[in-house]
Amino acid sequence: MKFQGIIFDLDGVICSTDEFHFLAWKQLAESIGITNFTRADGDLQRGVSRMESLGILLRKSERKFSEEEKIALAEQKNNIYRQMLGTMSETDLSENVRTTLFALKKSGKKLAVGSSSKNTKYILERLGLGDFFDAVVDGNMISRGKPDPEVFLKAAELLGLPPDDCLVVEDATAGIRAARAGGFEAAGLGDAAAFGMTAYPLTALSDLLTIVS
Ligand code: BG6
Ligand code: MG
Repeated sequence: MKFQGIIFDLDGVICSTDEFHFLAWKQLAESIGITNFTRADGDLQRGVSRMESLGILLRKSERKFSEEEKIALAEQKNNIYRQMLGTMSETDLSENVRTTLFALKKSGKKLAVGSSSKNTKYILERLGLGDFFDAVVDGNMISRGKPDPEVFLKAAELLGLPPDDCLVVEDATAGIRAARAGGFEAAGLGDAAAFGMTAYPLTALSDLLTIVS
């Protein structure tokens, strides 16, 4: 059997909070006069930390912002985003994701989350997955964001498995790079499916069931 452990990214893999991220950043952009923040810009923010995501957005502004202003802007975005997260419930976990996660658990795989988000625990609770995973490593527990492998290496360590026995599942190219840098094979959804470093392109999370069986 391939891979004893599976490490999932959260936003855009377990749930569609990637859309909330985009909408919240777009709202923030408009509040500071950036009217051309596009989905392609949002895609560049996938996987990277909140402050780096802000940096990507501010490239579109002619204004210069101080460090304090940047911190305030990131907090403003997070408040908008948290309001959106507050509308989520267990029904926001798709049937495909739910059945895949439970089937993998039943087959004896060790399952972890490895996310850059500091909102990870809150999101998992809203989805009814607060106690589901064997390990959760989030943005509060790392000092270097993806594409650094720290988040996945910590998750593998908590699972008690070596990187080559864990599959990382990602929707971000930064996440696939992080996985490869840590010695993990990676499965990719969305843009990450077509990325050259992705060993297993997925059309839906349930494709994992054949890959790891
Ligand atoms: C990642 C997202 O999962 O988390 C990024 O793909 C986001 O877009 C990052 O910037 C940090 O999230 P948060 O919730 O801590 O602002
Ligand atoms: Mg993601």
